[in-house]
Amino acid sequence: MSKVAIVYWSGTGNTKIMAEAVLEGAKNKGLEATLFDVSEFNKDMVSDFDAIAFGCPAMGAEALEEVEFEPVFSECDLNGKNIALFGSYGWGGGEWMNSWEEVCGEKGAKLVSKSVICNEAPDDEVLEECKKLGEMLG
Ligand SMILES: Cc1cc2nc3c(=O)[nH]c(=O)nc-3n(C[C@H](O)[C@H](O)[C@H](O)COP(=O)(O)O)c2cc1C
Repeated sequence: MSKVAIVYWSGTGNTKIMAEAVLEGAKNKGLEATLFDVSEFNKDMVSDFDAIAFGCPAMGAEALEEVEFEPVFSECDLNGKNIALFGSYGWGGGEWMNSWEEVCGEKGAKLVSKSVICNEAPDDEVLEECKKLGEMLG
């Protein structure tokens, strides 16, 4: 059985709701899935999982959250790793996700799903996309 992690940061809860839907999708697929707030995760745990979904909203100026999420994410060795990305944004057009995908490409990660982004709180359609992303992890 594939062992997968969903690692997220969320300030006001929108990305957390997405993360929970990703978890649900992965579990529905029969994957051994664990949800981690990024404060519970570190680079040494990457090798424990077959795939990892990372969730972080647009913060700063179209950037990842820089105090907790980015330091952990940047330290993770994702070369050859199956990953997927998701997160919520506010007033931008989702540019932070394009930059984040580029960084993942530079790290040698393999994106196993189209990234899921949504404006503020996720609606039912977005939650369905999140569940599908969770299924794609295994
Ligand atoms: C400090 C801060 C910076 C933000 N920067 C951006 C930004 O650059 N672009 C954007 O589209 N939204 C930005 N937002 C809006 C958040 O991405 C949006 O509210 C999102 O839904 C928050 O997700 P969360 O509930 O998971 O924390 C920012 C919000 C805060 C609090």
